[in-house]
Amino acid sequence: MAETTVTTVPQNGIDPISGFVIKPGFEIVRANCTACHSAKLVTQNHMSRERWLTTIRWMQKTQNLWPLPQEKQILDYLSANYGERTTGRRAPLPANLMPSISK
Ligand code: HEC
Repeated sequence: MAETTVTTVPQNGIDPISGFVIKPGFEIVRANCTACHSAKLVTQNHMSRERWLTTIRWMQKTQNLWPLPQEKQILDYLSANYGERTTGRRAPLPANLMPSISK
């Protein structure tokens, strides 16, 4: 009798829970980047490593994002899978132009 393999990894390589591309580090990103907003806010963006870091710093400064001991892996993942595009939508606003939330 043929064995049935039940797999939770979808064929298209996209995590069905978050929508993140399943590549090394995606669990870390899923654990740290979906608590306050939808993963879509992450996956719809494409930026350079430097801009991802700027975005993380902006959230840490103004949005109570916690320190990220695994920041390097997060940046590796983001820049590899949601890196800068040469075409498409305009570049996101730099962090210093983002609205700040007064407390
Ligand atoms: C502590 C809460 C919190 C966590 C955790 C968090 N963010 Fe955010 N993030 C925010 C808030 C608040 C905004 C602004 C949302 C809005 O404008 O609707 C935001 C906005 C963003 C944006 C949009 C910025 C832009 O230029 O439009 C991106 C991209 C983003 N976050 C990525 C991430 C990534 C990647 C992580 C994981 C490292 C993360 N966020 C974790 C609070 C958080």
